[in-house]
Amino acid sequence: MSGNKTFSMIKPGAVRNKHIGHILSKIEEAGYTIAAIKTFKMTIDMAAEFYAVHKDRPFYQELISFMSSGPIVAMVLLKENAVEDFRKLIGATDPEKAEEGTIRKLFATSKTANAIHGSDSDENAERESSFFFSRQEYLRSEQVI
Ligand code: GTP
Ligand code: MG
Repeated sequence: MSGNKTFSMIKPGAVRNKHIGHILSKIEEAGYTIAAIKTFKMTIDMAAEFYAVHKDRPFYQELISFMSSGPIVAMVLLKENAVEDFRKLIGATDPEKAEEGTIRKLFATSKTANAIHGSDSDENAERESSFFFSRQEYLRSEQVI
């Protein structure tokens, strides 16, 4: 059975373009509960670790440089079938291929500056949530909700 938690980040371009409010509205309208949230500026080393799975890809340096170029908004989000439904809500990695109405179609400006991140598995949702939040922080939020 799939889990009820995913991890997301609003990426630096969308923060710079003042889309935080619009994006949070889309997320809540889609039925997600924001269980934990904070703004945070990653160092290049943190971005390198977060995206380490892509370290041999040609876009890696551009990706980690972009992801550490300004504040992001990190979130733990709750809803049934959280991971899969969230990937549909954000749309394809390349905004030109993203479906109408998806967050990337609306707010991304390029493949690198593609507005938002969403975990790709329950295991990564857990790993990424604990990268930004203490377990206490987000487990306490889940209990309150
Ligand atoms: P995330 O939610 O950010 O993990 O994106 P994703 O799961 O849709 O894509 P993936 O994990 O494969 O890649 C991570 C990030 O690397 C993407 O969000 C893009 O910003 C960037 N990326 C992936 N493929 C390409 C590419 O072919 N070119 C460029 N310039 N960037 C890419
Ligand atoms: Mg990914």
